[in-house]
Amino acid sequence: MDVRVVLLILATTITATGSQQISASRNPLPVGSNVTLFSQDHVKTGTWISDNTLIVFIAPGNVNIPDSWKDRATFNSTTSSLTITSVTLEDSGEYTLQAFSPNNFIHQLTLSVQVPISNVSLTASATDLVEFNDTAVLTCSVLNGTSLSYVWMKGSSEMAAGARVQLSNGGATLTIVGVTRYDEGSYRCNVSNGVSDAISPPVHLNIYYGPSNTTMTVTPMRSAYITGSNITLSCSAESKPPAGVQWMFNGVNLNHFGQELQLEMVAENKSGNYQCILHNTVTSRFTSESGMIRILTPIAAVVVNPTGGPPILHEQYMLHCEVTGYVENIQWSRNGQPMTADNTTVIDMTNRTLLLKPVQLSDNGDYRCEASSPVSNMTSHPYTVEVNYGPMTPVIAAPSMALTGQMVTLNCSSDSHPPSHISWYFNGSLQATTSELVIGPLTFNMSGQYTCMAHNNITGKNSSADTMLTLLAPVTMASIKIVGAQPIMNHTFHSEL
Ligand SMILES: *[C@@H]1O[C@H](CO)[C@@H](O)[C@H](O)[C@H]1NC(C)=O
Ligand SMILES: *[C@@H]1O[C@H](CO)[C@@H](O)[C@H](O)[C@H]1NC(C)=O
Ligand SMILES: *[C@@H]1O[C@H](CO)[C@@H](O)[C@H](O)[C@H]1NC(C)=O
Ligand SMILES: *[C@@H]1O[C@H](CO)[C@@H](O)[C@H](O)[C@H]1NC(C)=O
Ligand SMILES: *[C@@H]1O[C@H](CO)[C@@H](O)[C@H](O)[C@H]1NC(C)=O
Ligand SMILES: *[C@@H]1O[C@H](CO)[C@@H](O)[C@H](O)[C@H]1NC(C)=O
Ligand SMILES: *[C@@H]1O[C@H](CO)[C@@H](O)[C@H](O)[C@H]1NC(C)=O
Ligand SMILES: *[C@@H]1O[C@H](CO)[C@@H](O)[C@H](O)[C@H]1NC(C)=O
Ligand SMILES: *[C@@H]1O[C@H](CO)[C@@H](O)[C@H](O)[C@H]1NC(C)=O
Ligand SMILES: *[C@@H]1O[C@H](CO)[C@@H](O)[C@H](O)[C@H]1NC(C)=O
Ligand SMILES: *[C@@H]1O[C@H](CO)[C@@H](O)[C@H](O)[C@H]1NC(C)=O
Ligand SMILES: *[C@@H]1O[C@H](CO)[C@@H](O)[C@H](O)[C@H]1NC(C)=O
Repeated sequence: MDVRVVLLILATTITATGSQQISASRNPLPVGSNVTLFSQDHVKTGTWISDNTLIVFIAPGNVNIPDSWKDRATFNSTTSSLTITSVTLEDSGEYTLQAFSPNNFIHQLTLSVQVPISNVSLTASATDLVEFNDTAVLTCSVLNGTSLSYVWMKGSSEMAAGARVQLSNGGATLTIVGVTRYDEGSYRCNVSNGVSDAISPPVHLNIYYGPSNTTMTVTPMRSAYITGSNITLSCSAESKPPAGVQWMFNGVNLNHFGQELQLEMVAENKSGNYQCILHNTVTSRFTSESGMIRILTPIAAVVVNPTGGPPILHEQYMLHCEVTGYVENIQWSRNGQPMTADNTTVIDMTNRTLLLKPVQLSDNGDYRCEASSPVSNMTSHPYTVEVNYGPMTPVIAAPSMALTGQMVTLNCSSDSHPPSHISWYFNGSLQATTSELVIGPLTFNMSGQYTCMAHNNITGKNSSADTMLTLLAPVTMASIKIVGAQPIMNHTFHSEL
């Protein structure tokens, strides 16, 4: 009977009882190697079959191996093991040990013969890539090898597929869509099968990017600079290759190239907008950054001057703070005390004036103006304000009566600043332009009303007062005995003849 027919019958009646009972000396195994398949259970009668071809027919005292296997298969009756030498890829498949005695069973094992991996290479569609625009395609290939699986490495870490990182071609192709600067690095593919593994030489991806994150720094950092300062402007960005830098001032190209722009001994006309333009020639991308630089002349002089007339009590008076150089703020002070606006003091920052409205006697003092800017400050010399006033109603010191022939002195004074000019009038005619009027020897026609006129040539005001002088004839034949003091006006005067 044909062995194959027997086997087919048996195969349909006996069910497989598992595959653990067969073990291989090696599995998977490389082509060309030898393999021994071991059975746990001893077989007296049975077969070794591979994919429905008989390899060994086992019967007590008789082991039959077909010609097609004779060269390569050997059966050890002691162990019931099958050894196959010089395996080929075609030897991969299911191996079945079917026993009829001493027990009925079917044991199975799937054998995998693989070609060892050799000559792994990695190629990239391009290795110089532009961030965001380009896609990297890396292909891993082997000269020889079967049942390949791929692990992709970036540097020393394993890569995982994701939204941007895609695997195709059974894992042999890695695609990075829209590369970023962080994708730069060395890539390798690690190829393995059951019998070997190999790693490709690295391929380095250069990612060109930027300029981005452009910054401008100014040293020293100030809100404003005094004329004559040295200022350094510097622009930088994240860029590969490094970006070229060009400079503009108020929209005009300065024809200056380089990260730094030095401004030396700056004049006021260097105030304005500075801009740096960065260009990456590989990515063809531009960025720019700009900053305002203020250059101010320092305050060279501060002088307090009056505007208009002199300070006159109860009138208006204005002081002006004259500043040479750039000024942002002024502060007035009187006698060292900072002044604030109130209902009689108006401070005008725009016109830099101080208005006293109205002038009071308490406004006397030394006025200073302190001018300041972000780059300098200066205080004026003091300007002394003396409030002009008067004349007040004159006060006259004069006797009301006198004897003919005598000399009398009339004195007039008036509170005034500056001191008033005093004039004396009698019957409308000027007698003197001094505060003291001495008249005499007296005659009767000298009696009457004397007028003292005070004139302040600053305030332009006049004030006057009168005094009456009554003349008496001396008593020639009698002696006058004066009792008490001198005669006082409106007091009773006693004399005894
Ligand atoms: C396989 O077996 C044959 C015969 O026993 C032997 O000559 C050969 O060296 C073996 N090959 C290997 C790789 O062990
Ligand atoms: C069969 O295997 C046994 C145990 O490994 C060994 O001792 C014996 O020599 C083998 N027989 C043949 C014919 O190779
Ligand atoms: C494969 O690699 C070996 C050694 O690594 C080398 O000698 C041989 O030339 C390579 N073959 C090819 C086709 O690259
Ligand atoms: C590739 O494998 C074949 C057999 O599959 C073999 O003949 C050839 O020599 C192998 N080449 C290399 C380079 O290993
Ligand atoms: C820009 O710089 C900042 C701070 O240095 C950093 O946090 C940010 O990630 C950078 N942005 C880019 C796109 O590099
Ligand atoms: C500014 O630079 C000039 C020229 O380098 C130098 O002579 C000058 O002393 C510098 N001025 C300051 C304030 O550093
Ligand atoms: C990158 O892509 C943008 C938009 O698709 C395109 O305008 C630009 O020219 C590209 N840049 C480079 C360097 O290819
Ligand atoms: C100014 O204000 C003060 C109090 O606020 C007040 O006593 C004074 O009379 C005011 N002077 C004038 C001139 O309005
Ligand atoms: C500044 O002075 C001008 C004239 O000199 C005047 O017209 C203007 O009103 C003044 N400004 C203020 C805020 O008083
Ligand atoms: C004025 O300038 C001096 C130095 O020039 C500085 O020490 C002082 O703090 C400044 N004062 C003000 C109020 O700015
Ligand atoms: C006011 O009078 C004084 C003293 O006579 C004189 O020196 C001064 O020039 C006069 N001032 C004016 C404004 O007339
Ligand atoms: C003296 O008395 C007269 C009348 O009573 C009066 O008008 C005058 O002002 C008085 N003079 C003085 C200095 O008191």
